[in-house]
Amino acid sequence: MSAIETAVIGGSGFYQLNAFENSQTQTVTTPFGDVELEVGTVRQALAASDKHPSAMEGSHSKKAAFLPRHAKGHKVPPHKVNYRANLWALKTLGVKRIFAINAVGGIGQQCGPGVLVVPDQIIDYTYGREQTFADTLEGVESHIDFTWPYDEPLRQVLLSAAKAQGDNMLANGCYACTQGPRLETAAEVQRLARDGNTLVGMTAMPEAALARELGIQYASLCIVANWAAGLTEAPIAISEMMAVLNSSTAKAQRIVHQALISQL
Ligand code: HPA
Repeated sequence: MSAIETAVIGGSGFYQLNAFENSQTQTVTTPFGDVELEVGTVRQALAASDKHPSAMEGSHSKKAAFLPRHAKGHKVPPHKVNYRANLWALKTLGVKRIFAINAVGGIGQQCGPGVLVVPDQIIDYTYGREQTFADTLEGVESHIDFTWPYDEPLRQVLLSAAKAQGDNMLANGCYACTQGPRLETAAEVQRLARDGNTLVGMTAMPEAALARELGIQYASLCIVANWAAGLTEAPIAISEMMAVLNSSTAKAQRIVHQALISQL
């Protein structure tokens, strides 16, 4: 089978890849544990649109991988995700670029529930996570350049895909990655805002850094599920977050499908 060069990592509410016309479950063994993911063929339907004339150019593989970050049935919380195994499994398949989907809370004024954002920066507030391959594997650069944690050309692919679909997305954002699994206090969110963050989530790190260590291009499509803690009067209701994610995921699926077509 030809190498699979493009992968999507799904987050909360994004548990399957609608772009697949068919897919199989595959288990990939890594030095960090086994990873179950989906490998399949991407439907080229959206490519028929003349909004994206480049979409059908080239004779690349039409295969892609889909990895649900929290595993099937959302069994693994953000601080327990085996990020190293996940990234290693994708590298093993031959993946060169990853579109990551992340559910987040909104901090910036423009980042209300339902808004989609392609962040360009990260501040890492996590602790105790296995955050590098460099301490266990030879030949992995430990001091990677991480000035710009997301791959700019790949961010542009997502933004162009949204444009081609007529969907609005914010083109910038700073993602505060907190440890979780609890949500933040109001004071913590005020500090995150003072630090310059516009989004808060629990899964960007160490995922983005591990991708960089492996030389995999990485960009994220964030779906804002709620206003972050303390920015509204009412406490944050998980049911409301899930309702927002459920209604925004179709749009995210469409954009990812378009982005995949333009990359395959
Ligand atoms: N905080 C952290 N992670 C999140 C949030 C939040 O408010 N919403 C969705 N993921």
